[in-house]
Amino acid sequence: MTQAATFEQLWSAIADIGRDPTTGGYRRFAWTEADLRMREWFSGECASRGLDLIEDRMGNQWAWWGDPDSSPTGGVATGSHLDSVPDGGAFDGPLGVVSALLAIDRLRSDGFTPQRPIGVVNFVDEEGARFGVSCAGSRVITGVLSPDRARALRDADGITMADAMRAARRPPEQLGPDPEALGRIGSFIELHVEQGRGLVELGRAIAVGNRIWPHGRWRIEIPGEANHAGTTMLSDRRDAVIGCARAVLAARTAAEAHGSLATIGKINIQPGGVNAIASSATAWLDARAADEPALRATVAQIENEAGGSGAVVTEESWTPQTAFDDALVSRLASLLDGAPVMGTGAGHDAGILANAGVPVAMIFVRNPTGVSHSPAEWAEPEDCLAGVAALATVLADLAGAQQ
Ligand code: GLV
Ligand code: MN
Ligand code: MN
Repeated sequence: MTQAATFEQLWSAIADIGRDPTTGGYRRFAWTEADLRMREWFSGECASRGLDLIEDRMGNQWAWWGDPDSSPTGGVATGSHLDSVPDGGAFDGPLGVVSALLAIDRLRSDGFTPQRPIGVVNFVDEEGARFGVSCAGSRVITGVLSPDRARALRDADGITMADAMRAARRPPEQLGPDPEALGRIGSFIELHVEQGRGLVELGRAIAVGNRIWPHGRWRIEIPGEANHAGTTMLSDRRDAVIGCARAVLAARTAAEAHGSLATIGKINIQPGGVNAIASSATAWLDARAADEPALRATVAQIENEAGGSGAVVTEESWTPQTAFDDALVSRLASLLDGAPVMGTGAGHDAGILANAGVPVAMIFVRNPTGVSHSPAEWAEPEDCLAGVAALATVLADLAGAQQ
């Protein structure tokens, strides 16, 4: 079978999992039925390739070609995640996992024998769509997210991560830093669909990723007082939605003032009656900037402006400015015919691993729409295959010699 046909086969096997037929978007949230089906698909594909699957203490799935403990400097790991944002696109995450499996197929059909083990990972809960903390899988194993806090995170229905894991037959007591799993990663290459139009503008199919903007998530709780919509004078109201609207506008103004990005994409209004003044509102802020001072200034300005409505702002997660490994990035760029090198404002498990001291680089695949976290996210089949070829070249180089 050609690589194009295998790609198509793998892609269509997961095309309907967790897909909302109305919006066409994916709802593959951590430890839900859809996520479990994706994990099962992943284990099946790994088993059919004779790869040995190991789950780490967070339930991240690692499939190894070769004994992962055989190399004193660790193996070469690749892969990405299989969960999604609400109504996410097909490519954010799965493209990195499918490309990793196909890159292994390609190396094998070329007769390549790795000198160092090659691993493919499916990181759990990268998007944080269910429990609020992005990259929870890599944060827990690197110790950035404490097991107690992770276990206690709740979804919109009040289900804790601990209970969700129990329901998925994973003992939450096992959660925690996992030096053994980390020690197996000598280097990590994450392939990902580009989440912007950088490659379209350059007219190139592939780029090498070298940095991630600092970013974080903040919860903004705005108090109010429930009362009747038809009988409460405007002067007597304490309407939480007004405070929430101020926070939304403050996010836009602060981002413009500091050259950063600030988004409020999720709001919860209580009690949610059309004819009742809101008693409280919770809004979640996602903010990112090219540097940490600009990001901190953005959030401080929003906090200051929202504070006038009595809002309380709490940081839920923080990812510092992240630079990947310079030598690895240059090596990839020269292996890939002088591919352009670019940073991104999107978060990735690669960033969490880089900040834990793992040598990391990324490969981006052109996205003609430039849109991501939406069903409009796209990559042309020939660009996906160029990504597989690029990844195979890089894996062959990094795993081809005992280092
Ligand atoms: C993940 O895609 C993020 O950047 O939030
Ligand atoms: Mn994403
Ligand atoms: Mn992603």
